[in-house]
Amino acid sequence: MEVLKNKKTLQDFIERQKEMGKRIGFAPTMGALHNGHLSLYETARKENDLVISSIFVNPTQFNNAEDLEKYPRDTDHDITILKTSGLVDAVYLPQVEDIYPEKTESQSYDYDGLENEMEGKSRPGHFDGVGTVVEELFRQVKPDNAYFGEKDYQQLAIIKKMVEKKQLPIKVKGVSIYRAENGLALSSRNQRLSETRKEDARIIFETLTKVNEWFKNTSIVNIKKNVNEIFDNQTNMELEYFLIADENTLKETDQREEKNPYRAFIVVNVDGVRLIDNMHLN
Ligand code: PAF
Repeated sequence: MEVLKNKKTLQDFIERQKEMGKRIGFAPTMGALHNGHLSLYETARKENDLVISSIFVNPTQFNNAEDLEKYPRDTDHDITILKTSGLVDAVYLPQVEDIYPEKTESQSYDYDGLENEMEGKSRPGHFDGVGTVVEELFRQVKPDNAYFGEKDYQQLAIIKKMVEKKQLPIKVKGVSIYRAENGLALSSRNQRLSETRKEDARIIFETLTKVNEWFKNTSIVNIKKNVNEIFDNQTNMELEYFLIADENTLKETDQREEKNPYRAFIVVNVDGVRLIDNMHLN
């Protein structure tokens, strides 16, 4: 596996691969790699000649300095995981100046309102930071296909919108949420939870599964009541939000129409760790 430590080495590498006509699959990350990331590479492996990942903790997408500082970083360990997996041909480790040659600040994006829903309300500016880094990485890596986990469903929708608006020749693909055996969606943040709390957090997936069942014949208003009751009875965790939204517009709804696709979204704080999850509703 090639370890590309700056923009110049990446560009030389990409140029050679493009000359050979290789089809490139790309999965950007912020490191702290886990099986969820490996599932992105596995999908990319099947659909491309070459798989590239990047590790870059992007400062402009954090809402506060403490969160950025606390973000787990262990690049050597991540490189070992990547090499052992055998799924990735090259990893790009840009320096801050490779992404932000002038000021470390975001550009602003118009994602047709997707940015104003859910995470956009609690994390102002977050999606501008994500758009800025992902657009720059796309322009440097020039992938044919790019892979993102459905755990961050709003991020996936926003990146698809950015690619459409900027007319980038890239297919953005969502990969199903990778879950631990107890149903907990894998996330780099889970590292900050004790084993007991990880076990307690199974309630998030269990609740989403019940919501999917209730959705067949219960009103959204009553589903929300049920979910609130479940979390009112939990110690050690706090429901930040639960809502059902149109899967395309991400707009919250209490009314449903037969023809529209819906998805349930949930954020729960467990011992100060913010866990997010979602599920398509059948
Ligand atoms: O999902 C992430 O890890 C990050 O938001 C991303 C897409 C790598 C951009 O920094």
